[in-house]
Amino acid sequence: MRQKLAAGNWKMNGTQDQLGMLAQVPPSQPGCEVLICPPAQLLIPAVQQALGRLSIGAQDCHAQAPGAHTGDLSASMIADTGARYVILGHSERRQAHGETDALIQAKAAAAIDAGLCPIICIGESHAQRINGQALDVIQDQLRLSLPDHLTQAPSVIAYEPIWAIGTGLIPSLDQITKAHSAIRAHLRQRFGAPGNDVRLLYGGSVKPDNAAQIFACPEVDGALVGGASLSAEDFGPIITALAAA
Ligand code: PGA
Repeated sequence: MRQKLAAGNWKMNGTQDQLGMLAQVPPSQPGCEVLICPPAQLLIPAVQQALGRLSIGAQDCHAQAPGAHTGDLSASMIADTGARYVILGHSERRQAHGETDALIQAKAAAAIDAGLCPIICIGESHAQRINGQALDVIQDQLRLSLPDHLTQAPSVIAYEPIWAIGTGLIPSLDQITKAHSAIRAHLRQRFGAPGNDVRLLYGGSVKPDNAAQIFACPEVDGALVGGASLSAEDFGPIITALAAA
């Protein structure tokens, strides 16, 4: 039985005064984990204030060991903060920082080696969806961005169609189901039975009013939530819907 996961991605939002919100978010419970990924400067106070009620994660890590990489954080540094997760290959980083599948694979390997659980993001553009290439794009991203030892430790894959992020648009439930089934099939084929243990999140415009129907789709183990994770008023009902799914 996979544990459900409600993951909040705060992106480049949040200062120390916003951490008070952590106390208002429904806590992790058996079978349903709640994760907040704040910006890097809040990792240590977030771990302290979450008090084990919530898991804390980072939004990126460097692929290499500590060294001469100005402005970056290694996976081991993130683990040292007490954070347990790291989001990798978010489309905003793929686009704005030119991150390739090969780089994301290297980062995921570094994260696993540092004891972090990677959340590896994949998803097609609007043009790729319109042109009927969505499932092919997903397969390519999986093939190239997952490290070979992915299933030797807990890991998560987030299916986030780029056109659904921050737009208020979501794919049809049939499109979500087909994408998640394709991801699960890929994992089983490549990793065998342990491929069943990887949790699959849907991400892109998850809101309180659409969460329950998304969580009812097969192979959807939770969500990666951007905008709606910034307030307990919005994230709370999404967590409650996931716990009830
Ligand atoms: P959104 O972002 O929920 O604001 O659409 C999701 C994400 O980028 O992970």
